[in-house]
Formats: sequence, C-alpha cells, structure tokens
Amino acid sequence: MEAGAAQVEEQKRAAAVRALDFVRPGMVIGLGTGSTARYFIDALATRVRAGLRIRAVVTSRESHHQAEAGGIELVDDLDQPLDLAVDGADEIDPRLNCIKGRGGALLREKIVAHASQRFLLIADESKLVDRLGRSPVPIEVLPFLWRMTGRSIESLGGRPTLRMAGLEPFRTDNQNLVLDSAFPRVDEQLAAMLETIPGVLEHGIFLGMARTAVIGGAGGAIRMMGALA
Ligand code: 5RP
Repeated sequence: MEAGAAQVEEQKRAAAVRALDFVRPGMVIGLGTGSTARYFIDALATRVRAGLRIRAVVTSRESHHQAEAGGIELVDDLDQPLDLAVDGADEIDPRLNCIKGRGGALLREKIVAHASQRFLLIADESKLVDRLGRSPVPIEVLPFLWRMTGRSIESLGGRPTLRMAGLEPFRTDNQNLVLDSAFPRVDEQLAAMLETIPGVLEHGIFLGMARTAVIGGAGGAIRMMGALA
C-alpha cells in the first residue's frame, strides 16, 4: 500500500533525524536542499543550539536562510574536503546512484557532494528504484542559446522541457535555466555524453558518489544502505 502524504513526511523526518548519528563535533557539513534536507537542517540546528559545534556549507539560498535562522555557522570558502554532506534525492538505485535536482539546486549539490568525504542520502522509501530513469533528469543549462543546448540533449535521445515557475522560466540560484528531460536509459554513458555539451552546466545524475543512504520506511522503520563506517 502506498504511504499517505503525512506518512511520507514522517519517513523523511525519521531518516533525517537518524542521519545525525553521522555528525561529530568539529565537522564541516554540507547541507542539501529540499523537503528532506529541511528536516535534517532543523534537527542539526536543534543540536547546535544545545551546544554542538560544527560548521556548514549550504547548497541553496533556501537552505542558507534556514541554517542561518537556526544558528548554524556557515562557511562558503574551504581549501579542504567537507567531512560529510547530507542531502535528499529524487531516485536512488540499489548501488546508491541517484537522480537529484527537482529542487533546482543540483549544481551546488554536486559540488558539495564531490567535495565531501562522505555523501549521505536521506529519503523516504518511495525514492527507491530498481534502475534510474523513472523521472526526468534535471539539467542546469546556461540561458545563452538554451534552445540549441536542448537540441543537443534531444540528439542523445532526450525529451527536454523548460522548467517553469508560473508563467516565467524557473531560474536556479545561479540564474540559469533547468531543462527536465526523460531519456530511454539513464546510465554512465548518458552522464558522460551530457558532460560534452557546452551549454550544460550540470546534470542531476549522481553516479558512484553516495556512500550511505538512510531510508525512512513504514511504521518508523529505518533502512541503512551502503557503508556505515
Ligand atoms: C534539490 C534536490 C532534492 O534533494 C531532491 O529533489 C529531493 O527533494 P525532496 O527531499 O523534497 O523530495 O535534489 O535540488
């Protein structure tokens, strides 16, 4: 039976709270974007107010506002890896490959994930898939000649549509556009080909990046996937 909206929120919250087990004093932590990441930032802020000392890097303006309001010390310039990044996902496969970017923060999210020693996914169980590609892949593109960039994406078998925010094109925090594109197959080859298109700034296919996933399930169950240590 599919979980109702309130149960899904509870699963996200439970996964986010469990992710606190990976936090240690003194860490620099990457904070993701989206509804599940929001639960994590909330839970982390509560710990910080209780005396935990950590610093954080945020992946969006939205997470910046929330973390700042919660009293979390923020940094945006580092010359060494982050200890941990915690973020949600739109789809997660059994090897912890994932699709991200429905919230439009994929570029900064990928930079932060790549710069972290451990990239930890938090999600409700509806995000688990046998193989990636159930939902369109978000692709951040430069506004300059974006229709031509869209054509290049079509030449890879994609069906890109411009993401809208009401009547206006959606703009990322970096002032770029997002093309959401279904593909017949989402795999390493597609990721590599997308990276050859000059107007593509980043795509939401995160392969081999997440080391661990904390998945909230029915009745408060938590499933840990990947490496725990
Ligand atoms: C934002 C993201 C989000 O992490 C992803 O869309 C999942 O969001 P939610 O936790 O709201 O389901 O990639 O760019």
